[in-house]
Amino acid sequence: MKSFIPWIGGKSLLANKIIAMFPEKIDRYIEVFGGGGSVLFAKEKHAPLEVYNDANGHLVNLFRCIRFHREELQREISGYINAREVFEDIRTQIDMRGFTDIQRAAMFYIMIKISYGADGRTYGCNKKNISPDYLSAIEKRLKTGAGVVIEHKDFENLIKVYDRPGALFYCDPPYHKTEKYYDAEFNETDHERLNACLQAIKGKFVLSYNDDEYIREMYKDFNITAVSRQNNLSRGEYKELIITNY
Ligand SMILES: C[S@@+](CC[C@H](N)C(=O)[O-])C[C@H]1O[C@@H](n2cnc3c(N)ncnc32)[C@H](O)[C@@H]1O
Repeated sequence: MKSFIPWIGGKSLLANKIIAMFPEKIDRYIEVFGGGGSVLFAKEKHAPLEVYNDANGHLVNLFRCIRFHREELQREISGYINAREVFEDIRTQIDMRGFTDIQRAAMFYIMIKISYGADGRTYGCNKKNISPDYLSAIEKRLKTGAGVVIEHKDFENLIKVYDRPGALFYCDPPYHKTEKYYDAEFNETDHERLNACLQAIKGKFVLSYNDDEYIREMYKDFNITAVSRQNNLSRGEYKELIITNY
């Protein structure tokens, strides 16, 4: 199934290629930089234990509200219309005190859906479908089996907590030199920190990155596959890397 939300750097167009590279048998699947969860949702079930994680608190709250309070969330979302004033009001109010998690999740859902290119910063001026109907299918997916564990951690701690020989970490960090598109800050030290973490893990990893000399050099001891996809923002072709430690 597809994700319910567009996300900058989202992997909907590459999800099948990425999944085709996953090892056959894994005990736990951990999506370290979850975003819109396109790779998680592209398969019915990746492993007996599945984990979704992101550093963006509003996004994680939205995932949790879909899993635990879907009906109330749908009701809350239904009260919104797609209009510039709504977008601007949400932008100024979303971090203010006094809202419930469900109200905040609805605001975030609308803010991303009606923004330009899902950037959450500028109004998109288009007639995007903001209906929350699809969220019941997403709720079902998040509850499949033991249910997807939803985490809100920095990647380094998350990887340490879930690392085992049977683990598969899918890592899709902010790309090198395009980090500014995300609210969670990410810099060169973080790219190096991620590299150090992945060098040391007991489990397996699949890592997505932009095709960049700095990244190629950093991961030169691993298996690197070059792929390309359509770029959502510039409409051109975009070259990416899929890096694995197996
Ligand atoms: C390229 S996007 C992931 C896109 C996702 N794979 C999808 O298909 O929608 C990168 C994500 O990393 C998150 N992020 C940034 N810094 C992080 C950190 N230190 N730990 C965990 N997640 C982080 C961002 O909030 C963003 O959602």
